[in-house]
Amino acid sequence: MKEIAPTDVNEIVSLEEQYQLATYKKMPVVAERGEGVWVYASNGERYLDLYGGHAVAGTGHCHPHVVKAIKDQAGQLLFYSNLVYSEARARAAEKLVSIAPELLTKAFFCNSGTEANENAMRMARMATGREQVITFNGGFHGRTADAISATFLGKYREIGKPNVPGHLQAEFGDIESVRSLADDSVAAIMLEPIQSMAGVKMAAPSFYRALRELCDERGVVLIFDEVQTGVGRTGEWFFAGSEPGDAVIPDVITLAKALGSGIPVGACLVTEWIGAKIKENDLGTTFGGGMVAMAAVTATLEAIENDAMLANVRAVEAYLRERLQEVERVVAVRGRGFLLGLEFTDKAKPVHEALLEQKIITGTSSDPNVLRLLPPLCLQKDEVDVFVDALTAVVGG
Ligand SMILES: Cc1ncc(COP(=O)(O)O)c(C=O)c1O
Repeated sequence: MKEIAPTDVNEIVSLEEQYQLATYKKMPVVAERGEGVWVYASNGERYLDLYGGHAVAGTGHCHPHVVKAIKDQAGQLLFYSNLVYSEARARAAEKLVSIAPELLTKAFFCNSGTEANENAMRMARMATGREQVITFNGGFHGRTADAISATFLGKYREIGKPNVPGHLQAEFGDIESVRSLADDSVAAIMLEPIQSMAGVKMAAPSFYRALRELCDERGVVLIFDEVQTGVGRTGEWFFAGSEPGDAVIPDVITLAKALGSGIPVGACLVTEWIGAKIKENDLGTTFGGGMVAMAAVTATLEAIENDAMLANVRAVEAYLRERLQEVERVVAVRGRGFLLGLEFTDKAKPVHEALLEQKIITGTSSDPNVLRLLPPLCLQKDEVDVFVDALTAVVGG
């Protein structure tokens, strides 16, 4: 392996602070190299990454199968747009559709989660000829104009002003609040099936079922924003079709984050009837479906399959939940698979900071008492032990 030159941490920090807009509160870590669940800082220290590089490193950092596929494709053809056919794109689309719930038969590729959601809403409007989209308090869908207008979490709609018209807010988990809004002006209902940033909130399985029935009754498109829950994170390929969602299949699933293991890529998976309404030039983006991203998608899905990561997520989640019972200050563990919210008796931020000092990266959320874990799907039980032992040392048993 290539030797990494010792780098001046202070220089890097001051260069970023001088030349990059300060839009993120950063951890004091200069990330230099990654392997599986570990991230190595430029000072040689290693961190257990339970935040999975912002929910992106589903296959772990630098999975060799994914890295090889990206390198091979980069040497062959970096990019050509959708104006030509490509084996990399054909294989990625085929693979993605093959793991999707049966009714979702076509893929549209873009570059990020917000873009996937914008395109999903646009497709719903085109397919129904209606304009309104119902989304939920606590939901997060991205930061471009339409997606931020659909985001009723915290201050996002405010910073996205002026908002795009055509957005209605319902109460997550309350079907009556949706029913009262879903008249014949409504094109779509869109939700994060597990609201991650809101503090890892799930609704009862009956809520997802009732949404499906309401959409069927009123000709409304159901969109699951699976930017976080998709690509194996819940221990299933998707939340759609899984038991906590009462096996409900939406009309559209949106994806990004872990889909390319770190290469930017987003996607919408759609049913036949929506696909049939979308015509040439209705949607498009130069970079969507580019060859390197497509090679990354195929290799990501293959790596998850080859390494039996879905079964791993379910087994290691069970072990983590069991071990967390030892930690008295954790009063609830929300979520599913490796999208978990640990609810503390008190504020989670000091816990996040203390864990960082112990070289463990976790996430916070908009619920001040909830610490979020989004580790790579290859996390093992002994790494869970490292985490729970450190957590016990930080907050007491
Ligand atoms: C559920 C969900 N939807 C959409 C997005 C937006 O994705 P991106 O940042 O790739 O635009 C995010 C990002 O955090 C997300 O968590």
